Amino acid sequence: MNGDFAIQTFNLTKTFNGLVAVDGIDLNIKKGELFALLGPNGAGKTTTINMLCCLLKPTSGTAQIMGYDINRQPFKIKEIIGVSPQETAISERLNPQENLNLIGELHGMNPRELKSRSQQLLETMGLADRAKDQVRKFSGGMKRRLSIMMALVHNPEILFLDEPTLGLDPQARRVMWEYIARLKEDKTILLTTHYMDEADFLADRISIIDEGKIVALGTSAELKTSMLEKHTMIISVQNLTQQVIKEMRARYAEVEITNGTMTISAQKLDFKEIVDLLHTSGATVRSAYIKEPTLEDVFLHITGKELRE
Ligand SMILES: Nc1ncnc2c1ncn2[C@@H]1O[C@H](COP(=O)(O)OP(=O)(O)OP(=O)(O)O)[C@@H](O)[C@H]1O
Ligand SMILES: [Mg+2]
Repeated sequence: MNGDFAIQTFNLTKTFNGLVAVDGIDLNIKKGELFALLGPNGAGKTTTINMLCCLLKPTSGTAQIMGYDINRQPFKIKEIIGVSPQETAISERLNPQENLNLIGELHGMNPRELKSRSQQLLETMGLADRAKDQVRKFSGGMKRRLSIMMALVHNPEILFLDEPTLGLDPQARRVMWEYIARLKEDKTILLTTHYMDEADFLADRISIIDEGKIVALGTSAELKTSMLEKHTMIISVQNLTQQVIKEMRARYAEVEITNGTMTISAQKLDFKEIVDLLHTSGATVRSAYIKEPTLEDVFLHITGKELRE
């Protein structure tokens, strides 16, 4: 184990009756890093997290969390991690405070610390005035927030968040993002999400997993620049002549014109050359910009567009 890493996996593999859900994953997640795992439905994200949290035994391979082995030292690992599962594991008959107490006591927190920490979390997550209501009366988003509080109450070093903002309203998502961003100063966080903007906003590095395998890894910027072989320029333009259109088509692979907007895509685009050409032809260029590839473009490019099971 390299001391810089909080989470390392070694050929981590899980099969379910012949179905390879996680297919020999090697990941190195640094201490203090926020690492996002993206992937289509059924890619193996939750299965990976469940193995790292010692809830599921690998079929082969292993992983280390802060140097502890998931196969040999699961109890050590459970002490230092917090988990917010995809299917929230909350006791519906208890109120939020009681749910938090349950986790705190399990981790042997002292009552005073537990109380102040719960209070602080309840306030941050906007549930302080519902602290005495039974959870079964809560909305989906309120339960999701409580689930994250339960992952955090004992102040773990390593945090696993499986789709932490699923079903949250835009305000709650923003609050959650800012909260998670602050946490990453002193914790290592592994999160999964289907929201590309979330990964973009939060993650230091992103890994895309598909059919149990890592198919891309890097910062959001690295993924965007390295994965797409095409650049796109969008120009709002009037008075186009057939001549200049012909000239553009001769130079660039794809040129489309709709409602006064010219879209040019090619491996290499010379912004100035294009604008100059248009000007010289007598066209009026109202605006022009290079469209940056989004993380969603990268995701679809790498994982394809067909639906997974
Ligand atoms: N307990 C299980 N028994 C059998 N197959 C399972 C089990 N858990 C997961 N699988 C299968 O393993 C594969 C990976 O599932 P997993 O839940 O890890 O995907 P995921 O990436 O988390 O997907 P999602 O984005 O939908 O949450 C799927 O084909 C799933 O059907
Ligand atoms: Mg999942």
